[in-house]
This record gives sequence, structure tokens and C-alpha cells, in this order.
Amino acid sequence: MRIDILTILPELIEGALNHSIMKRAQDKGIAKIHLHNIRDYSTHRQKSVDDYQYGGGAGMVMTIQPIADCIEKLTLERDYDELIYMTPDGEVLNQTTCNMMSLNKNLLILCGHYKGVDQRIRDLFITKEISIGSYVLSGGELGAAVLVDSIVRLLPGVLNDETSALTDSFQDNLLAPPVYTRPADYKGHKVPDVLLSGNQKLIEEWRMQKAIETTKQKRPDLL
Ligand code: ADE
Repeated sequence: MRIDILTILPELIEGALNHSIMKRAQDKGIAKIHLHNIRDYSTHRQKSVDDYQYGGGAGMVMTIQPIADCIEKLTLERDYDELIYMTPDGEVLNQTTCNMMSLNKNLLILCGHYKGVDQRIRDLFITKEISIGSYVLSGGELGAAVLVDSIVRLLPGVLNDETSALTDSFQDNLLAPPVYTRPADYKGHKVPDVLLSGNQKLIEEWRMQKAIETTKQKRPDLL
């Protein structure tokens, strides 16, 4: 999968996506993530990328020219399955959307800043608007990093144990059951006996029961 990210702060995303599983996915060539600094596309003499909003009001708006030029260059080079804009008024990200997006070949993600981008960018180019939650971030970069991480870890070959993404929380609309590792007894706090029993059928039943219990308790809205 190829992902192009348009931002005025590439450093913010670079750090988030160049470690651990995301780094491995890129080293293996499974995910190709390209960062584009919107400022590099500005034809303004001071490389500015924002301006006052028409009608007055606080906050700057990201201008059309550098974003449109960058998008037009990239879309001439390849077809994108989705052109995504990270915004608090977008559709709230969930596991189903991540699963669907992981089936795509080319994604473009635009990160907004200040009051957002000129509406005409959204009207002309954007095919999907995504929010990572009902709160406002300073920019779309952290949201983009969350989105990319949640998609890339699902790509075949990224996780060591191929089944582990399937047992994550939210797959099947259930939260994941509790997990334990050594020691079996920590100062009298013991690992549930069933997990030490070696009986895989009983273990799976216990995990399912715990997943349902946890979901009922913490996220009844999922059931
Ligand atoms: N940009 C600002 N706030 C955001 C949010 N909640 N989700 C995605 N992008 C954003």
C-alpha cells in the first residue's frame, strides 16, 4: 500500500511512523509512506500557506493553491482509492473503517491546520473526511498518524503472528479479554487457572466469556 500525506508539519508524523511495527512495515516494503510538505508547493513569495477568512472571524484558513498543486501533481502520477481529509467534523474512525481502508492500494491524506482548509479543496478533491474523535486537535497530523497506524498494522505480513490483528479489541465488536504473562503468581496475585490448564477449548471459551463481560462493563454500546 502507498500512502501520501500532505502536511505543513512532516516532522510530527515522521516520528510517529518510524518506529516499531510501522517501521517494520516500511522496511519490508509493505507500506510506502510519503510525506509532502505543503509549504514546498506555495508560490507565495514568503511560502505562506494560510490567509484570513472571508467574512471575518478569528483564525486563519489554509489556502487552495499549494494544496491543490500538490494534490494535482500526485493524482497525475497515480489513481487514489480515497483522498482523505482529517477533520473534527468528519466521520468518526472505527475498526470497521480501518479494516475497509486496509484493502486499498493508494491513499492520500490531507492534514488541516488553523481553522481548516478552504472549503473548495474539500469540494473539489476530497472523497472521505475522517475524525479520530469528538475533540479538536491543533492539526490533522496526529489524527493522520493514528489512521495510518490503524490501517498499516492490518496489512498482511506486518504483524508477526498473522492472527493477532483478528483478536484485537473491536474486531467482532468485542473488547479484547485480559492477558497475562510470567510469573504465574505475583505476590499472591495469580493468573487464572484455566490459562495454565493447557486445554485450548476451555481457554477459548474463557476468553470469549471475558470479552463479553469486559464489553458489557466498559462499552455496552458495542453489544
Ligand atoms: N484535526 C483536528 N481535530 C481533529 C480530529 N478530532 N480528528 C481528525 N483531525 C483533526
